[in-house]
Amino acid sequence: MGYKIAVVGATGNVGREMLNILAERQFPVDEIVALASRKSQGTEVSFGDTTLKTKDLDTFDFTGWDMALFAVGSSATKEYAPKAAAAGCVVIDNSSLYRYDPDIPLIVPEVNPQDVHKYKNKNIIANPNCSTAQMVVALKPLHDRAKIKRVVVSTYQSVSGSGKEAIEELWNQTKGMYVPGQEVDPSVYTKQIAFNVIPHIDVFMDSGDTKEEWKMVAETKKIVDPAIKVTATCVRVPVFVGHSESVNIEFEDFLDEDEARDILREAPGIMVIDKREDGGYVTPVECVGDFATFISRIRQDVTVENGLNLWCVSDNLRKGAALNAVQIAELLGREVLKKG
Ligand SMILES: NC(=O)c1ccc[n+]([C@@H]2O[C@H](COP(=O)([O-])OP(=O)(O)OC[C@H]3O[C@@H](n4cnc5c(N)ncnc54)[C@H](OP(=O)(O)O)[C@@H]3O)[C@@H](O)[C@H]2O)c1
Repeated sequence: MGYKIAVVGATGNVGREMLNILAERQFPVDEIVALASRKSQGTEVSFGDTTLKTKDLDTFDFTGWDMALFAVGSSATKEYAPKAAAAGCVVIDNSSLYRYDPDIPLIVPEVNPQDVHKYKNKNIIANPNCSTAQMVVALKPLHDRAKIKRVVVSTYQSVSGSGKEAIEELWNQTKGMYVPGQEVDPSVYTKQIAFNVIPHIDVFMDSGDTKEEWKMVAETKKIVDPAIKVTATCVRVPVFVGHSESVNIEFEDFLDEDEARDILREAPGIMVIDKREDGGYVTPVECVGDFATFISRIRQDVTVENGLNLWCVSDNLRKGAALNAVQIAELLGREVLKKG
């Protein structure tokens, strides 16, 4: 016996990836339903070798369904996730709506799987922000060995992190640069994204940080350790899929770069590609479609007492969103629901 699974936001970037990953990982599914807005009713989406016709979320009854993987943005989540949870269906949510609620677990299965049991509080589990998810997979095993004091991270985030319209904006704006009369003004973004970089993701806060930067701080504390200090600069770059991060870490104890490399090689969810030669590192285009978080450029930072630098790249639609959600579903199944 398997699970009855709803994928909510099935026509979006993350929802489609969720369906792909559930099929790829042969998640024990008895029945699966694809949900989106009314305008997408009947739209076909792929689930492995089969095709599903999308249904209207607004009229869907979650009674009798085991889990709902939500990828619809905060306002639709606010309206529909409580209904699903109240109907007895466990919600695994990709939006930021519930991440900072102390009663709702925020989970990266390689890092804090033990928190899954807290799902009972509200029948909801939150999935972290894409840039946080890949970073904490790398931080956790290093923290266990040498205790992290402070992290300075700069991100290089792809446009797929802003949804399907952002992908179109980069594509059309790039083409429009070469075709007179077909220039495309910024719409999703506040400035031109083609052949440019934008140091602005999500809204500005009073501190001068953006919300994306704040999320990396708050979520790392909630998932790994509240004692870790994090400062972030989040930047949008003209890459379709794959977020990259330059991460500088300061530890309590000394951690040699070779030992750090060995620890990361053994860590779950991580692939180390770190040759000190031309091309001996990973770039975002190489990580698309992969499950792993890739770590390269591991090296000592001698400007502080116990410092290390590394480069961290992952498919943001996978580890940053859909894969992590499916891993949470697997964890919940294994530890709690025990079907399949
Ligand atoms: N992309 C990432 O890297 C990433 C990472 C982490 C978290 N997330 C989060 O995941 C969520 C989805 O992101 P995305 O990139 O997949 O967005 P997207 O490509 O724009 O897709 C949005 C999906 O939500 C559906 N939807 C929107 N409003 C709805 C409503 N009122 N009722 C029913 N369905 C509705 C859309 O259906 P229609 O097609 O019918 O409009 C579509 O299926 C967001 O909360 C985002 O913040 C994304």
